[in-house]
Amino acid sequence: MEELEELVNRAKSEIAGADTLERLRQLEVAYLGRKGKVTSVLRSVGHLPPEQRPAAGRTANRLRAELAEAFNARGEQLQLGAASRACGRREVDVTLPGTAVKPGRTHPLMRVWRDVEAIFIGMGFDVVEGNEVETDYFNFTALNVPKDHPARDMQDSFYLADDIVLRTQTSPVQVRMMRELAPRLPVRLVHPGKTYRRGDDDYTHSPMFHQMECLYVDKGIGLQHLKGVLLEFARRFHGPETQIRLRPSYFPFTEPSAEVDVTCAWCHGEGCRICKGTGWIEILGAGLVHPNVLRHGGYDPDEVTGFAFGMGLDRQAQLRYGIDNVRLLFLNDWRMLQQV
Ligand code: DAH
Repeated sequence: MEELEELVNRAKSEIAGADTLERLRQLEVAYLGRKGKVTSVLRSVGHLPPEQRPAAGRTANRLRAELAEAFNARGEQLQLGAASRACGRREVDVTLPGTAVKPGRTHPLMRVWRDVEAIFIGMGFDVVEGNEVETDYFNFTALNVPKDHPARDMQDSFYLADDIVLRTQTSPVQVRMMRELAPRLPVRLVHPGKTYRRGDDDYTHSPMFHQMECLYVDKGIGLQHLKGVLLEFARRFHGPETQIRLRPSYFPFTEPSAEVDVTCAWCHGEGCRICKGTGWIEILGAGLVHPNVLRHGGYDPDEVTGFAFGMGLDRQAQLRYGIDNVRLLFLNDWRMLQQV
């Protein structure tokens, strides 16, 4: 070890004296190379009696690392020196074009996510967190989805265990948040996130997709508030001329329930390829929160009411950027991302 320490000290003073990168490389080979002086002392640690080996090995490795660090530091110094000398001699032509760096950019889906979020923040909604791995209770039972409902089928949901599922919708965040907030009012939140369904993999479906959930619970909330908020959103996101319409529908967790369409921003309602000639595009499911869901959340349905909706974010991105195949959003093909 003494011998090694001496060797390392000698090396360090030679490193300090090396004034070119070539000289430094030679020294590095002489000390740390395969047949280098330090390397061969390190090898000899293996011949020590076993009880001395661990301590000797540790010291040897530390010294070796110190030395490697000294080589690096001196190397950097010399390189900087060479570069600044070159500048001083005007060998660097700063007028030459540089190497273009292709900047990254925000993924179209994330742009939509943030824009949608910002619109709801602007209307006074809080953005909350949720769980992608959910219990069967929050994903289904608390949302008034009966045990024999087809949505619970193994065909549709990714079950991780008997009672644990990759959430099939962002709606479980409704009851989770109500439980956290009850009895405070209002409950006024949005939650964008990933959702998962089995078997969906074609031009318009992907097994992983994105939704944004919205929930507004307070005294006296009705369909008029839902309509007002949706119209405001539609106009801010799709343009000031946008119209919306509510069609009666069914969801277990809302009563009444509606599906909501916006006028097609591509043809302004005249009918085109994107809206399949109808002039309307469905963007979300909505309704007034079912009394059972309010109860699961810890609120009294005789006291408060609420509206909720769940919007497909991938759909919004497809509409905004005219992407007809949803899978393009997840392939990260630079040629596609460049265009949007
Ligand atoms: N969770 C529904 C789905 O994935 C969408 C939805 C419909 C959410 C109505 C809601 C709602 O909050 O009120 O199809």
